[in-house]
Amino acid sequence: MKALILSGGKGTRLRPLTHTGAKQLVPVANKPILWYGIEAIVAAGITDIGIIISPETGKEIQAKTGNGDRFGAKITYILQDRPLGLAHAVKVAQPFLENSPFIMYLGDNLIQDSLDIFLAEFAKEHLDALILLRTVSNPTAFGVAKVDEKGRVLQLVEKPKNPPSNLALVGIYFFSSAIHGAIASIQPSARGELEITDAIQSLIDREKPVEALQLQGWWLDTGKKDDLLEANRIILDTCLQIAVDGQVDAQSQVSGRVQIGANSKIINSTIRGPVIIGNDCHIENCFIGPYTSIADRVTLIEADIEHSVILQDAKVTGIHQRIVDSAIGQRAKLEIAPPRPKALRLLIGDDSHIELV
Ligand code: DAU
Repeated sequence: MKALILSGGKGTRLRPLTHTGAKQLVPVANKPILWYGIEAIVAAGITDIGIIISPETGKEIQAKTGNGDRFGAKITYILQDRPLGLAHAVKVAQPFLENSPFIMYLGDNLIQDSLDIFLAEFAKEHLDALILLRTVSNPTAFGVAKVDEKGRVLQLVEKPKNPPSNLALVGIYFFSSAIHGAIASIQPSARGELEITDAIQSLIDREKPVEALQLQGWWLDTGKKDDLLEANRIILDTCLQIAVDGQVDAQSQVSGRVQIGANSKIINSTIRGPVIIGNDCHIENCFIGPYTSIADRVTLIEADIEHSVILQDAKVTGIHQRIVDSAIGQRAKLEIAPPRPKALRLLIGDDSHIELV
């Protein structure tokens, strides 16, 4: 069994956070989203992993993630020249996949369930495809499945205007080598992509064994800011261990589950967990409230932040209003202007979103 993780694409939906980087590397609790997928795959006993990368962000993903040693896996990077669809990515990866069955994992998805049960079902039933489903309130944003009362998949449609159900396809699939023939038989969709849903539909139409299982735990498609904050909240809530490597001065108070990385300094501040703070941060005269992740080399002076994600090298100084539900990108600066002339002075990147009070 092999694994194929899709980390190509353009990542436009998380702009501007990912204007300069891959959306799959955006950290959740200070760890790239992509790495959670790799760890889940390795935990299920699969160590031969291909990662689809794009020309725009591939180098960054490769440099950060490496050859797999850190995960106990062997990673092969596969370049997809253009994001021509999930099925196109499988086509590009065929020389790596050969005739092996494989798990396909979309690099911006996070699930709570372990993969073991699904893998066992896939193997036991000799399936050509096993898909995972989850009830959602906004099915038009996903691939959607229509299933009969026995759970058999009757129909799959990608982002339908009139969804046949509210069962969304989670971005994790199990395939036999039969998927390659199915992909060869489909045409690009109206949006110009080779859709994996169409390839699975073609297996269903030819009465090949395709099954669906419902996810029990949470699932997050971290493509948007609110999903990212929610993923961050859940991971901090469920996985964060207390570890204080940095320095906390006598005037500071740290309570709850808090991680503070090496060489970080906490001065005259209150940190109320769950909170994770990376390495080499400077935090002075601050309140850092629950569900906040602060990446490496962040400077926060006189700031009050809660339920937010701050990426590396960002700087927030002298803001005397509480910052909540926010994502602040790499190297971003948020500061108070000099008193005169009394005005806002802004340098705001494309696609930014700022709410002033
Ligand atoms: O998240 C679940 C949804 O994922 C499913 O319900 C949909 O059926 C499925 O099509 C997919 O929809 P998205 O709109 O979320 O797909 P997105 O374009 O964001 O791509 C998902 C991942 O695959 C992302 O990490 C980028 C990567 N990708 C995407 C394309 C189109 C590639 O590596 N190559 C590609 O050509």
